[in-house]
Order: sequence, then C-alpha cells, then structure tokens
Amino acid sequence: MTDTLLRGRLLTFHREPADGEDTDAYTYLEDGALLLRDGMIVASGAFSDVAPTAPEAPVTDHRPHLMMAGFIDTHIHFPQAQVVASWGAQLLDWLNDYVFPEEARFADLSHAKTIASRFFDVLTDHGTTTAVAYCSVHSASAEAYFAEAAQRNMRMIGGKVMMDRNAPDDVLDTPQSGYDDSKALIEKWHGAGRAGYAISPRFAITSTPTQMEMAGALAAEHPDCHIQTHLSENLDEIAFATSLYPDAKDYLHIYEGYGLLTDKMLLGHCIHLSDREVASFAETGAHPVFCPTSNLFLGSGCFDDARMRAAGVQNAIATDIGAGTSYSMLQTLNEGYKVLQLQGQSLHAMRAFHWITRGNAEVLGLVDKIGTLDVGTEADIVVLDPKATPAMALRMDRAETLAEELFALQIMGDDRAIVQTYIAGVPQKGQPT
Ligand code: GUN
Ligand code: ZN
Repeated sequence: MTDTLLRGRLLTFHREPADGEDTDAYTYLEDGALLLRDGMIVASGAFSDVAPTAPEAPVTDHRPHLMMAGFIDTHIHFPQAQVVASWGAQLLDWLNDYVFPEEARFADLSHAKTIASRFFDVLTDHGTTTAVAYCSVHSASAEAYFAEAAQRNMRMIGGKVMMDRNAPDDVLDTPQSGYDDSKALIEKWHGAGRAGYAISPRFAITSTPTQMEMAGALAAEHPDCHIQTHLSENLDEIAFATSLYPDAKDYLHIYEGYGLLTDKMLLGHCIHLSDREVASFAETGAHPVFCPTSNLFLGSGCFDDARMRAAGVQNAIATDIGAGTSYSMLQTLNEGYKVLQLQGQSLHAMRAFHWITRGNAEVLGLVDKIGTLDVGTEADIVVLDPKATPAMALRMDRAETLAEELFALQIMGDDRAIVQTYIAGVPQKGQPT
C-alpha cells in the first residue's frame, strides 16, 4: 500500500452545470489535494484537511496547475492515426481513398502493435485517459489495442469493426467470421482488468442484413458490452445506406430493426436527423456522439446539440481521429464551441469541461469509476497549465474568474497545456512538475 498525495488547484463536477454561476454543480479548491492508493482516489478535498490524514505520503505539488478528472474520448479510430489530415474529400471518397487502404495494414499484428504503442502515448500526452475506439476489421488490431491498454492499466473500450461489403476484400470479414472474432475478443478482453468491449458494426453501408443480424445477436448475448456505429454524417452516405435497407423507415431505423438501439449504444455524428430519429434516441437512451473537428474537416455539417438536449437525449463528444484533426479534447471543445455558435447555441466553459469528463463518463455508464475526482473512483487525473504558451499566459493575466480562465483554456489549449496525466495513479509524462 503506497500512498501519494497530489496537491494543486482542484476542479471536479457533481452534475452538469447550467452556467458559471451554478456553483453547486462542481467543487473548485484553490489549494486542493488528492490522496491516491492502489490506483484509486481515497481522499479528495482541501489540502489542509487531506494532508494530515496521510502524514507519511510523498507530496507531488502541482500548484498553480489545475487537477481534473482525465479526459474521455468517446469515438476514435485507432487504425487511422496515420491518415489524420489526408486531403480533399467528403466521407465516402475519404474512406475509400485513405481509410480502407490504411486499415488493411492492421492485418499485421506487428504493425498493429507498433501503432498501438504510439497511439496510446499520444492519447496520454493529450490528457485522454479513457477512449472508445474502433479497431480495424482484423482481430490482430483489437488484440494489439487491448494488450497495449492492459500494459498501461488504462480503462479503454474498443472493438474490431464488423464489415462485410462495400469495401476492398482485405478489410472485409463475413457475417460468421465477424461474429466469431468479435465473440472471441469479448470473451478474452471484456471485463479483463479495465477493458471493455464495444460491438462495432462499422455502419449500415458496410454490413449486410445478415451481418447486422449477427451484430444484434452479439448485443443480445452480451448486454453489458457497448455498441458503436456511425449514423447520418453525410447526405450521400444517408442516401446509400437507406437504399441498401429499403424497408427501414429511416437510417436509424436500420439499427433499431436489429435490436441495436439501447443505452449502451454510441452513434457517431448524427448530423442530419428526422424528428422520428430524435424521438427514438430519447426513447431508447442511445447516445449521439458529437465529433466537431471531424464534421468540419469532412464538411459533413453541424451537430444540433440543442435539438437533442431539448428532446432529452444525452450527447457524448469525441475527436473521431482520423477524420478528426486533433487528439486534444480541449481542441475538440474549441471547434465544438464554434459549430454550436454557427447555430446560435452556446457552450459554456463549465458545461464544456463537465462534458469531456463526467458527462462522457455518464454516457458510458462509468461515472462510478471515472470522470470525477470523487473518493472511490479510479485515479485517472489530468493536470492542466492554463498558461502553457506565451499567448495563453498573456491572455490568462486578464482572466478574473475560473469560468473565464477555463474558457480561454478550452479555446486556446491543446497538449501543451497537459502538464501531467495519471493513469490509475501512475504519472505518464516523465517526472511530474
Ligand atoms: N463512417 C463509417 N466509417 C467511418 C470512419 O472511419 N470515419 C468517419 N468519420 N465516418 C465513418
Ligand atoms: Zn468514426
């Protein structure tokens, strides 16, 4: 039993704040402390209260930096790390020209392992402590992903994509092999250490009805697994998908028809939706995932957060690397703010930081484990320097409130603002500062 005491400014959320004045929604301490033991947070509060309870514990003093729960990225493609920023097309061409050839490389376990190691380094460099990832169609890619996560003791969710049509042969499975491979991966990895499995039919275009049925069977057999797919990102995609399933009322109804729509389901993008689809999200508790940098990069459109929220839908937010252009959840909030601005919607900094921590944890059903700095949760923690660059320091000198400071961090911040990332209590970046 080794205790460690972290000292610094501390911010953690109890629920989604309405605005900066909604101070009951969060705890903010100028001189806070977290006592870590065996990967867990065992005390959290004012330094003057927590420190005397652990007089022997070594103290890592992060002041004046800000400690927060680690960031959670709810939609990212692990095999797309080397096609981020590939020029010049909207969704379907971009998939065919860049993504499918790139993902074919992940049939090779040694390649998948090499990229997994670098991918996880980049995640923690950006303050991301949990992600929900799509692997390629090959079991090898998921094996590499989960093995790397296990080695780092990270709470990671992922799954091999199921796809059996409308892509090159070297990235296709079959309904039976997709089912068998997914099942074997679930049995090996789901619930092993901190890992969770996401059943991952890529999207309706690349799965036959038979494969969708198999995905539905997997979901029924493993109700505690997440399910992830893509929905209504692009108008050509919608036309193609619905033409392949002529009996479906709309795009979302394709997935509904196979029993996939539950509160464990994450659907990336959800930009162009009918009222029926929005109502169906509300009824089933399924979660749209807002991917702002991706939606801007591919010219896909603007996610209507206010419409979803008004219907009672709980949205997640994510990078969607490699259509997304930054691993940084801060930059994701920056672009997200602007996407909402274009629609006359506001994203207050307090709500923004709640979203990438506790909000995404709630969507995943993991708020008892991650997303806050509460006692009894896992010690996944990010330490932020709001003055990380000269431009940020110049701006922050005039920030008068916490909300103002956080907003500038949300707009100007990126991996340079991440001083340290703790995974289950272990610092990931060199010597802590
Ligand atoms: N739709 C189906 N697959 C993908 C993907 O890999 N990226 C994005 N942005 N959309 C998709
Ligand atoms: Zn995606």
